[in-house]
Amino acid sequence: MLLRGVLLAVQALQLAGALDLPTGSCAFEESTCGFDSVFAFLPWILNEEGHYIYVDTSFAKQGEKAVLLSSDLQAEEWSCLRLVYQITTSSGSPSDPSLLNLYVRFEDESFDRLLWSAKEPSDSWLIASLDLQNTSKRFKILIEGVLGQGDTASIALFEIKMTTGYCIECDFEENHLCGFVNRWNPNVNWFVGGGSVRNSHSVLPQDHTFKSELGGQLLAISHTAKGKPTSLSPAR
Ligand SMILES: *[C@@H]1O[C@H](CO)[C@@H](O)[C@H](O)[C@H]1NC(C)=O
Repeated sequence: MLLRGVLLAVQALQLAGALDLPTGSCAFEESTCGFDSVFAFLPWILNEEGHYIYVDTSFAKQGEKAVLLSSDLQAEEWSCLRLVYQITTSSGSPSDPSLLNLYVRFEDESFDRLLWSAKEPSDSWLIASLDLQNTSKRFKILIEGVLGQGDTASIALFEIKMTTGYCIECDFEENHLCGFVNRWNPNVNWFVGGGSVRNSHSVLPQDHTFKSELGGQLLAISHTAKGKPTSLSPAR
């Protein structure tokens, strides 16, 4: 009986190791983990080869949106939420750009709090780091992609990762880049961008309960046409 219990515990550990990512996280390898598209809106499409989810104007129109909702989450300590994302458009800087918005929906509230928003198109994957204040309430993360102007506008998410503790700085000298390094080719040039999520890539609302200076890192990772990141460069 005891041995059986130990074996089960070992198996559970192995399973946890295989899944690897903490609750509130998803690498979009084969599934969208606990994140589901909200039925009333466009679906986020999983690209299994590229390991990302996206919504684009090949199957939807300008102004339409896709909404992704996490399972119930808890953050009894300050936590760090990182998002690897990319917004693209065929038409330069359109007056009506695509938007990627991240909201927090607390269990006892009937409205969503906008925590972060980005609208600048880029040639690279970008990493946004957001500190989440500890709370005793359960909440869900809601990620909304709104398609803007452009024949080929698209919004893609490569990874969502929620970890306990404040966001650490992504620092190559300490051999880590926000914990994302393992998924990418080690023979690449890594540069750490000094930008802040409050720069031109994002718009932060003033009225929210979270720490006002959310994170401080914004990285850009170049990738090939197939969507596989090949290098990292500072975001502008
Ligand atoms: C956050 O954590 C601190 C320290 O543990 C605690 O004093 C505070 O009440 C917590 N805040 C919330 C909203 O749970």
